[in-house]
Parts: sequence; C-alpha cells; structure tokens
Amino acid sequence: MSKNYKIAVVPGDGIGKEIVPEGLRVINAVAKKHGFSIDTESFGWGAGYYLKNNEFMPADGLETLKAFDAVYFGSVGLPEVDDTLPAKDYTFKVRTGFNQYVNYRPVRTYPGVQRPLRTEKHIDFVIVRENTEGEFVQMGGQYLPDEANGMGTDTSVFTRKGIERVAHYAFKLARTRRNKVTHITKSNTLINSLSYWDRVIKEVAQQYPDVEHEQMYIDNSTAMFVLKPEIFDVVLTTNLFGDILSDLGGAVMGSLGLGGSGNINPEKEFPSMFEPIHGSAPDIAGKNIANPYGQIWSAAIMLNHLGETEAANSIMEAIDKTTKAGVLTVDLGGNASTSDVADAVIKNL
Ligand code: NAI
Ligand code: MG
Repeated sequence: MSKNYKIAVVPGDGIGKEIVPEGLRVINAVAKKHGFSIDTESFGWGAGYYLKNNEFMPADGLETLKAFDAVYFGSVGLPEVDDTLPAKDYTFKVRTGFNQYVNYRPVRTYPGVQRPLRTEKHIDFVIVRENTEGEFVQMGGQYLPDEANGMGTDTSVFTRKGIERVAHYAFKLARTRRNKVTHITKSNTLINSLSYWDRVIKEVAQQYPDVEHEQMYIDNSTAMFVLKPEIFDVVLTTNLFGDILSDLGGAVMGSLGLGGSGNINPEKEFPSMFEPIHGSAPDIAGKNIANPYGQIWSAAIMLNHLGETEAANSIMEAIDKTTKAGVLTVDLGGNASTSDVADAVIKNL
C-alpha cells in the first residue's frame, strides 16, 4: 500500500499566500511520481487572522496541528499589525510547543544564479540554529517605559539540556557531510551565557573525535560568510545569531527568497515545521513576483524528514535544472513569475 502523509498547511500572510500554494503543487507532482500521496488541510492563521479574531491562531491550534505528520508554513506578519506579535503568538509557539529545537537552514550554490560574491568556489553548508531558547525566550520586561529613567531588559537562557541536544544534532549531521562543525559564539564578551554554551559544546565535541570542531566569534563569522564561505560545513549557532546568519546565508546564495528551512523535532514526538527563511515581504506581496525557490526547497527538506529521500532529491535536481535554464524571478535579475517557476520545476521533475 502506498504511503499517505497528512500535511497541515499554514500559508500565513503576504507572499506566504502566493508561494505556499506553488510549493504544494510541486509536492503533489513529486508525490505522484514517487508513489505516495498527501492529504492537506489549510489553516488561515497569522496576522490577517489576528485582525479578525484577535489571536494568531485558535487557543487549541497546537492540539490541532498535532494530528499531522508535518506543517508546511509560509510566514506571518503584516505592516498593520504590531510586529512584536507574529513570532510570539505563532512561530515561537509552534517551535517551542513542539520541541523543534533544531532550525536546519542550508546554504548552497544554485546553478545559473548570480551571487553577490566574486568567488567561484562551491558553497555548501548548513546552519544549525538552536531554536527554542537562548536570546529569544522573551523573559524580561519594561520598567517605566514612558519616563526619562525608563528601561527594557531581555534575558538570554542557555540550558545544559538545550545546548547538548542541538550540539549532538550538529555533530551527527557533520558525520553525514564533510565532518566539520564550526560553533559560533561571543564568549569574550557574553562571559556567562556564551562561555557556558562553549563549555557544553566542547564536552559534546569530545564524543565525536572524528569530527573537526572549531570555534568562531559571531563578528568574525559574518566576515567569513562573505570572504571564505567555502570553509563552512555545519555552523552551530544560537537562536539570535542563527536568525541573522541565515539571512546573510540567503544573501550569499543570491537572494533571501532562495533559502529553505526546517524547524525540526529530531525525535519525531511532534510534527516538524518547514518554511522559507524570509518573512512575508509585504513590499512585494500580491504581484505574483515573489521567489518561491526557498519555499519549494523547504518542501524537499520536509519530504526528507518524512523519509521520502528520493522525492526530496528529485525536487532538488528539478530546482537546479530550472535555475540553470534561467527561470529566475525579479530578485534574481529575471522576469519569471512565482507560478512560472513552479510550472518549470514541475516540468523538470
Ligand atoms: P522579509 O524577509 O519579509 O523581507 C526582506 C526583503 O527581502 C524585502 O525587500 C522582501 O521583498 C525581500 N524578500 C523576502 N522574501 C522574498 C522572496 N521570496 N522573493 C523575493 N524577495 C523577497 O523581512 P522583513 O521585511 O524584515 O519583514 C516583513 C514581515 O515578515 C515582518 O512582519 C516580520 O515580522 C515578518 N517575518 C516573519 C517571519 C516568519 O514568519 N518566520 C520571518 C521574518 C520576518
Ligand atoms: Mg529571520
């Protein structure tokens, strides 16, 4: 009997509403070719939903999502909605509620895409971003914000358990790649939290003597992403640093619209969630010009997670053929529309 997967679809806001349906067309086409089927249910959650319902998703939203094998997500946020809410009330809720402690964000060369860097060297690395704690726990407060002596704080939280589990994931991942982990830190100034981060990662590293391990400061690593991106294999980093580095990774590839990602619960106790690295891009929404490659790549990462490796590889090969043939959106200097790209990828499957 052929396999069936239940996928929850959350397009979200802005360009999410345009690129998620295109990604779904690719998933359905590849499923047909590889002998499995998917059932999807779409949820109209996000900032648009908030404007009508005063919440980003219903109170039992996570319970609803639990029944699915994976969540295929676009992005949330609208200019007319308080921008402190989208992460707090949707994205972080799912990431922490489902223990998706790995944010898997690959960076690589796309054939036929002009990159801003002059290097001709092949770039292929994965950012493994800690996804549930660190700088983004939102523990803090504001004191007398309207007064001259007002103040605001956010506390970072790094736990042994949280560091160990993401570090083990990174070292195991390196064993399937080029055997190198670069861990990003700033322990020369964040002498409590990130010194602890370093210490626990070094303890984990000792259990992987076959994997090369190096430590790099965040400031230097932003320079190295530009000057020598080919030196990276697995980049292990904190929640905030990983957020910033992954947009830089997108830029290194040629556009933010190229980056796919997975919010992964490696133990598979809960569904994982797959989304492009960028946001809802309200400046270009509604014009059918958004770049869908990152959303389509996220579909491949999702299928890989579900065990459909051949289908995932076939999507990646089709993406490569499509960019190589010059089917490029405006951000990449081309004139293909969002749906042109998906059509071409499907043809190339
Ligand atoms: P953004 O990533 O949405 O856009 C940054 C720039 O990149 C814009 O000029 C946009 O047009 C361009 N861009 C992004 N994706 C593109 C694509 N697929 N094709 C072509 N161009 C693309 O980041 P921004 O502007 O900082 O945030 C916009 C909204 O998105 C905010 O409300 C923010 O909170 C939200 N956001 C949501 C995320 C999520 O749902 N996971 C992640 C990041 C931001
Ligand atoms: Mg981000």
